[in-house]
Amino acid sequence: MREGKISPLPKHIAIIMDGNGRWARGQGLSRLAGHRAGADNIHRVVEWLHEYGIKYLTLWAFSTDNWIRPRREVFGLLRLLNEVIDREVTSCLENGIRLLILGQIDELSQRLQSKIKRAIRLTRNGSRMVLCIAFNYGGRNEILDAVRKIIKDRVPAEGVDEALFNDYLYTAGLPEPDLVIRTGGEMRLSNFLTWQAAYSEYYFTPTLWPDFDEAEIEKALLDYSQRERRFGGLRARGGKGTRSGP
Ligand code: FPP
Repeated sequence: MREGKISPLPKHIAIIMDGNGRWARGQGLSRLAGHRAGADNIHRVVEWLHEYGIKYLTLWAFSTDNWIRPRREVFGLLRLLNEVIDREVTSCLENGIRLLILGQIDELSQRLQSKIKRAIRLTRNGSRMVLCIAFNYGGRNEILDAVRKIIKDRVPAEGVDEALFNDYLYTAGLPEPDLVIRTGGEMRLSNFLTWQAAYSEYYFTPTLWPDFDEAEIEKALLDYSQRERRFGGLRARGGKGTRSGP
């Protein structure tokens, strides 16, 4: 167990797993082989972060913008989601992890939707960690979906506040991410957790996702532990920030 080694730790980490394609090119492999290596790394990263005692982990595996990739690659990613769910359900049950899939799930095949529902049902009592896989996920779509549901529910305008809005997001009931990590060198959010990441800390690394290993995780967590989170409040004298404002 690595719990207590670094402090403070983020409660919720969200990761943009970028760089599989470049990793594959560097190895002289196909893009799909890169995604497979990326999928294998998911398992290791979940294990390491679980050992650190991280309570919530959200991984972005497929964006609503990814459908325009070549059919072969899209099918490959859908197949990998199938495999990852199979593997992670077993491991989640062994380790007390609750598995959630966030995104426009109703646009996926009936077979995949049933698999997702079953995985969520089987792991629902996991209390040590929540693992969310964002698939067919786009932040703006999520916000629009929430607005549509609020209108459908005929919520009066005066009743719409942040707490209510949170309840209509795919992430209802989950805390906001404290730390958003992006691998692969790009320094942007790309429509990931657009609402939820408003106050998050960001960590960007050029390391490609399949190479994002234990040492890289430790570096990211150490970096986070040095941050001063002020949420709009004042800098605390000689130390960490205070949550006294936005
Ligand atoms: C970006 O790599 C990564 C993705 C498209 C999503 C992440 C996918 C995985 C980690 C593997 C599949 C896992 C599941 C659960 C389906 P990229 O292709 O954009 O890399 P590049 O920028 O180097 O081309």
